[in-house]
Amino acid sequence: MIPGPYRNLALIGFMGSGKTTAAATIAGRLGWRAVDSDAEIEREAGRSIKEIFATDGEPTFRALEERVCLRLLHQTGVVVALGGGAVTSPLTRERLRDGSFTVLLDVSPQTAWRRIEAGAGDRPLAAEARGFAELYEGRKGLYHATADALVDAEEVHGDEALLAPIARPGALGELPRLIGARRAALVADRNVLRVVGAPFDPFVTVRLPAGEHAKTVAVARQAWTRLAELGLERGDVVVGMGGGAATDVAGFVAASFLRGVPWIAVPTSLVGMVDAGIGGKTGIDLPAAKNAVGAFHLPEWVVSDPGVLETLPVREWACGFAEVIKTALLAGGRLWEMVREWEPGRGGPEERLELIRRCAAYKVRVVAADPTERGRRAVLNLGHSIGHAIEVATDYKAFGHGEAVGIGLLSALWLSAQTEGLDPAVEEEVRDLLRRHELPVAARNVSPAAIIDAMSHDKKARGGRVRFALLSGVGNPVWDRDPGDDLVETAVARAVARTR
Ligand SMILES: NC(=O)c1ccc[n+]([C@@H]2O[C@H](COP(=O)([O-])OP(=O)(O)OC[C@H]3O[C@@H](n4cnc5c(N)ncnc54)[C@H](O)[C@@H]3O)[C@@H](O)[C@H]2O)c1
Ligand SMILES: [Zn+2]
Repeated sequence: MIPGPYRNLALIGFMGSGKTTAAATIAGRLGWRAVDSDAEIEREAGRSIKEIFATDGEPTFRALEERVCLRLLHQTGVVVALGGGAVTSPLTRERLRDGSFTVLLDVSPQTAWRRIEAGAGDRPLAAEARGFAELYEGRKGLYHATADALVDAEEVHGDEALLAPIARPGALGELPRLIGARRAALVADRNVLRVVGAPFDPFVTVRLPAGEHAKTVAVARQAWTRLAELGLERGDVVVGMGGGAATDVAGFVAASFLRGVPWIAVPTSLVGMVDAGIGGKTGIDLPAAKNAVGAFHLPEWVVSDPGVLETLPVREWACGFAEVIKTALLAGGRLWEMVREWEPGRGGPEERLELIRRCAAYKVRVVAADPTERGRRAVLNLGHSIGHAIEVATDYKAFGHGEAVGIGLLSALWLSAQTEGLDPAVEEEVRDLLRRHELPVAARNVSPAAIIDAMSHDKKARGGRVRFALLSGVGNPVWDRDPGDDLVETAVARAVARTR
C-alpha cells in the first residue's frame, strides 16, 4: 500500500499501544517523517504534559492538544502518532476522516498497562490500573469509530499498517480517492454487481460468472482480451470485487496482464473480508486441481464494507464463520473470546466490524512476516489439509469450502490433542460452535480412502506427505507437523463417522 491518496497516515490508540515506535517504523518504510502530538505539545508549551495537567487542568490541555493535532494532520507526507485522548475532539476526528489514513493500534488494557506501568507517574491519566482499564473501556468505541483500519499491537511492529485493509461502514466510498486519476477496470462477480452496484465510475466493467465458476482459464482469457481491446495500461488499475473467487481471478488477471498491473481488492463475502481478499495470493483452477495456476500479487488496497454482508446468502455467511473460527483459534485473545460468545447470525454493525477487523489483522500480521509462505504463513492452513481433501473427495459438490474446513478443524484439533498437548476440551467446544452456527461436524458417507488419497495430492504436500498446521494451545499454532499415518487415518475415520 502506498498511502499517496491520503495526506498522511495517523496512528490512534490507547497509551501504551506503541504509536510512537510504530510511527517511526512506518515513516522509515514510506520515506515520510514521523511526528508525535504529545512531544509537539510539550515543545510548544515548554512544559511537560504532567505539568500542564497539574497547573492548568485537563480542559486546557485538550484545547492545546486539539490545536496541535489539527496542525499536524494538515501536513503532507507525515506519520502522526496521536495522543491517546486526541480522538475525543470532534474537530480532530473530522480532520482524520477528511484526509488521513487512520490506523488503530489495538492492545489489551493489560498489555498497555504493563508497558506504561513503570513510567505511569508521568502520565496524568494513568494513576492506577483500575482507573486505567475504565478509561480504556470508555474510549474503545471512539477508537473503532474513528479508524479506517485496525492493527494488532500486542507486539509492537508497524509494517502491518501498510497491509491492513480499510474496513469500515461506507468504505466503498473511498474507491474514487484510491483510484485517483487512473483508469480503473472493474472486474466483478455479476451477482455482486447486481446487489451492490458499481462503487465508482469504471473505465470498463468485466462481469464474472458468480462464485467459483469465475476461476477458469476461459474467464481469465475473456478478461485479458477485453482489457487488451480497450488498451488498459500499466499505469491503470484493476479493481476486483466479489467473494474470494472474484478477487482471486481479478487479482490473477492483474498479476498477469502486461506482466502486472496494480489492483485493489474489494471483498464482499465474509471469507473475502477475513481471508481471501488479503495477502496477495491470486489464481484460477484447472479442471483437476483447484488454485493450480496463480501468482503472488499484493493488492495496493483491500477495501471492506461490512454493510454489504447483509445480502450475503445465509450458507455463505456460515462458511465464512468457519474461517473466522479458524482464525480465532490461531489468534486466541480477544478474537477467540468474541467467537466463543457470538450469537448465530451476522451480529450488530459494530461487533461485526470488530470481528472482521480482528480476523483481518491476524492474517495481515502472518502475511507481513512471511509473504510467500516459506514458513509461518502455513499456520493459516489449520483445518485445511483434511478439509480440502474432503472437498476433493466429494468433487466439490457435497460441502462448501467453509463447511469442509469446519470438519477439518475438528480433525486438526483432535490431532493436536494427540501430539501437541492441546486440551481436548477445545475440540469439544469447536464442535458445539460449529453446530450452533449450523455447520456440519462430519463428512458422512464420504470414503476415508478417497480423503487419504486426495491428501497425498495436496499441493502443500512434500514427497507425498502432508504437513499439518496444528495447535499446542488456543493462540499457539505450530506448522510443518507430520503426525504419522496411523493418527492421520484415525483422524479421517473420525471425520467421516463423527456421531456426536
Ligand atoms: N487468495 C486467498 O488467499 C484465498 C483464501 C481463502 C479462499 N480463497 C478462495 O476464495 C473462494 C471462496 O470465496 P467465497 O467464500 O467468498 O466464495 P465465492 O466468491 O464463491 O462467493 C460465494 C457466493 O456469494 C455471492 N456473494 C458474494 N458477496 C455477496 C454479497 N455481498 N451479497 C450477495 N451475494 C454475494 C457470490 O456471488 C457467490 O455466489 C475460493 O475460490 C477460495 O479458493 C482464496
Ligand atoms: Zn479456507
